[in-house]
Amino acid sequence: MDGTVRFVATCRVCGADDWLDVLSFGSTPLANGFLKPADSYDGEATYPLDVGLCRDCGLLSLRHLVDPRILFDHYVYVSSDSRSMAEHMGRVVDLCWQRAGLARRADLARRADLAGRAGLARRAGPAEGALVVEFGSNIGLQLDLFRRRGLRTVGVDPARNLVDVANERGVETVAAYFEPASAAAVVGAHGTADLVLGRQALAHIPDLHRLVEAVDVALAPEGVLAVEVPYLLDLLERNQFDTIYHEHASYFSLGTLCRLFAQHGLRVVDVERVPVHGGSIVVFAARDGSSWTVRPSVARLLDLEERGGLRTDRPYLEFADRVRRVTGTIAELVRDLVAQGQRVAGYGAPSKGSALLLACGLGADELDFCSDTTPLKHGTVLPGSHVPVCSPEQARDRAPDVYLLLAWNYADEIIARERDFLAAGGRFIVPVPEPTVVGAGTRRDAVHAAAAS
Ligand code: TMP
Ligand code: ZN
Repeated sequence: MDGTVRFVATCRVCGADDWLDVLSFGSTPLANGFLKPADSYDGEATYPLDVGLCRDCGLLSLRHLVDPRILFDHYVYVSSDSRSMAEHMGRVVDLCWQRAGLARRADLARRADLAGRAGLARRAGPAEGALVVEFGSNIGLQLDLFRRRGLRTVGVDPARNLVDVANERGVETVAAYFEPASAAAVVGAHGTADLVLGRQALAHIPDLHRLVEAVDVALAPEGVLAVEVPYLLDLLERNQFDTIYHEHASYFSLGTLCRLFAQHGLRVVDVERVPVHGGSIVVFAARDGSSWTVRPSVARLLDLEERGGLRTDRPYLEFADRVRRVTGTIAELVRDLVAQGQRVAGYGAPSKGSALLLACGLGADELDFCSDTTPLKHGTVLPGSHVPVCSPEQARDRAPDVYLLLAWNYADEIIARERDFLAAGGRFIVPVPEPTVVGAGTRRDAVHAAAAS
């Protein structure tokens, strides 16, 4: 192995080396490594994709990590502007507003400002308003919503191409990894943060301790850390094997996050399950010694994890068995349709779509194309499976008989929107948790159960 891949010998949370091998997907290309169409893809780089459980702290982790510079310096994943994601981002603002004391901070700032205007006190300077710092802020869609609620915001994201877009949109964003040095620079310029937020970012960060050290640098004494991560219990129960790919180094339970944060003087004070990305948790943590008290939601979810046996081998081995069965069923279903002369295409070209096709052994022999709303992906081919990506407009002109719903986390929204396709006899295969064929006659609750979103 060259210097681009690092073997994970000891756990990145607790340092133990007692691993359970859960699943191996062999050596695969990066899920976001979209390629220009070519006659041959012989030179395509692949990297080992194995996932294991740390039996000590319960971290589910990749056993090989690809150098983050290869993964993230130029990033094609642009935050979705879909309806359901916009709704979710609004909910995150509301949650943080209630749970992270932003309402109180904003109120104090407003009163100071009013008092200042009345000549009663010094006018509130910018440092007196609540500050939100988001790491992995992408093009700034989430921060924009905080800004509209009157808060000050700073984004930190390593992908220059996305940082440029965020700044052009007026969301101040620094091109950097969120580390103690970049956190200190943000504090120097703006003061400490009332809220440090990381949405769907933690899984991408190999050095978890350095990340939490950066949080420690950035966070005000009474500030709150909020992280949103895909939830391990949902991953296991809903067979979401395609969310396992090189960018996602870690798959978290609440118990493991409690243990990680505790090592840095932070304690989890609240948690909320949210449906985004197939099931996620938003975890709130505050400094030991701060005035924040722990809500009952924390003990409740820890108890659920205990009852689900998350600290034992069983749920992981059962998950691996189901994944072998489900990937086989998806491949069989698609191959049978193609053999019957049906045209099959992918709906969406998300990174997990690349992962799904590779895990199922499907590719350009079975799928005509994948349609995706992201302009950066148009005219490329998917890594590994080499299925061409086109725009939804192009896809409408050559609609297939069946869409394999690769963007299954938006199943409700997409299936509702594609009623003309369904009315014309088109069908969807929703691949997880159990491969399910959805047509015009399928009842909505069955679709919902299939999508489990
Ligand atoms: P995500 O699950 O990581 O947000 O990625 C979703 C991908 O699916 C992204 O590439 C955009 C694409 N997509 C569509 O092509 N059509 C849609 O209707 C939606 C919601 C997403
Ligand atoms: Zn561990």
